[in-house]
Amino acid sequence: MTVSSKPASSKDRVLIFDTTLRDGEQCPGATMTFEEKLEIADFLDAMGVDIIEAGFPIASDGDFEAVSEIARRIKRATVAGLARAISADIARAGEAVRHAVKPRIHTFVSTSPIHLQHQMRKTEEEVLEIITRTVAQARNLVEDVEWSAMDATRTPIDYLCRTVETAIKAGATTINLPDTVGYATPDEYRAMFQQIRERVPNADKAIFSVHCHNDLGLAVANSLAGIEGGARQVECTINGIGERAGNAALEEVVMALRVRGDVLPYDTGIEAALLTRASKAVSTACSFPVQYNKAIVGRNAFAHESGIHQDGMLKHQQTYEIMTPESVGVTKTSLVMGKHSGRAAFRSKLKEMGYDLGDNQLEDAFTRFKALADRKKHVYDEDIEALVDENIASAHDRVKLVSLTVIAGTRGPQRAMMKLDVEGRVVCEEAEGNGPIDAVFNAIKAIVPHEARLELYDVHAVTEGTDAQAEVSVRLSDGGSSVTGRGADPDTLVSSAKAYLVALNKLIARGARVHPQAAAE
Ligand code: KIV
Ligand code: ZN
Repeated sequence: MTVSSKPASSKDRVLIFDTTLRDGEQCPGATMTFEEKLEIADFLDAMGVDIIEAGFPIASDGDFEAVSEIARRIKRATVAGLARAISADIARAGEAVRHAVKPRIHTFVSTSPIHLQHQMRKTEEEVLEIITRTVAQARNLVEDVEWSAMDATRTPIDYLCRTVETAIKAGATTINLPDTVGYATPDEYRAMFQQIRERVPNADKAIFSVHCHNDLGLAVANSLAGIEGGARQVECTINGIGERAGNAALEEVVMALRVRGDVLPYDTGIEAALLTRASKAVSTACSFPVQYNKAIVGRNAFAHESGIHQDGMLKHQQTYEIMTPESVGVTKTSLVMGKHSGRAAFRSKLKEMGYDLGDNQLEDAFTRFKALADRKKHVYDEDIEALVDENIASAHDRVKLVSLTVIAGTRGPQRAMMKLDVEGRVVCEEAEGNGPIDAVFNAIKAIVPHEARLELYDVHAVTEGTDAQAEVSVRLSDGGSSVTGRGADPDTLVSSAKAYLVALNKLIARGARVHPQAAAE
């Protein structure tokens, strides 16, 4: 059956706990700036997420500020802050979420023998005492306390039952049993919830939660199995970003429940038509590309290439699609905008695509759209998305590209002449390189001296044709942390410069060893 984007009613309600801003942000290279986190939080709230885990307040002042600000501005969803089972962590998390309409502290401790022995060096009894003390501390600060048994799936069931009972007795209102290392199979995970709910005497006093990692590609399957076992909260992230192989993807969990409501009779409050926009917003904010064949939100998720499939689709949409593209916010329209389109058409196009830009951002995006339309024969929705997303992402940048000229060809060395706006001052430099891209990056380094190392450089075309926009991803690492930047332009060298600058600006925002003022002096 094909489904609509509206949730059905009279089914068991499953709460969606989004941890894109916490577990998602722990994914190497996926860091977001303060402003990007606020934008994502607003989007998650608008989309109907029940609980937003906004960060790990003790981890850094930046994390604390982001969680506090999100707690202040979000009016509908619960806002959670993560805390280890340490008094200072819990106090900091409590402080960060205290202005939320619905605050939650999420505290966790490891329970598996392997973690207790090798990481924590604590006995089972000591951990039980820690649970009692820390959950009670959190409960003194807020009414809504979630407790997680880290590495629950590798914890013997008898001991896991004791930890859960202890946490509920100490005041936990949600019990999360994570598959921290992505080890469980669906049958095992379902059975774990069934057993815990049967055996723990006070189990009816808490909501149970799933939190699955994707090391074996089973995160979504395990999450669904956990729901069948009695869990009523799913912890997940947009695009499945997260530690190592990531977390369960929110869009996949939501659409599996929606499309297969016949065998999974559970509802979420998610407005599914916003899933594609959410995916793009997160991908842009953390400069983390979405794989082409990613379920639900990948660019090929609704593309049909083979003759047999195209033939079927032309005859009846349900021959090869189990949900409509519209149900997840993919519009089928492409080629409608061009160099003759005016401001009003552009504004309405953006609205239709789910963007709500302020006057200045709109004006900026329109100027860039016109410039693109002058250079490119067909402007597709994806082109507009790429330029608007880039615009939003660069709104707070301290270093911006003004112009770039490159001399390249068979007779090297290649040469780049670059102008950058460095905190309001235009600075020019020329540099040579071993190839045009090397020359471009050397010119940036000449203007903005820094020690960051280039870890990844990747190019792909946004749409078809030789005039397609090239989308470049660049990953820079500095002092143990890495950031990714993305840029799009019909000229690969310009997109390379843009991508490098996005990453560099992120490093500047994080206080890395980058010296924009050196060049501006
Ligand atoms: O994977 C995990 O166990 C976690 C906990 C902090 C909940 O992310
Ligand atoms: Zn996790």
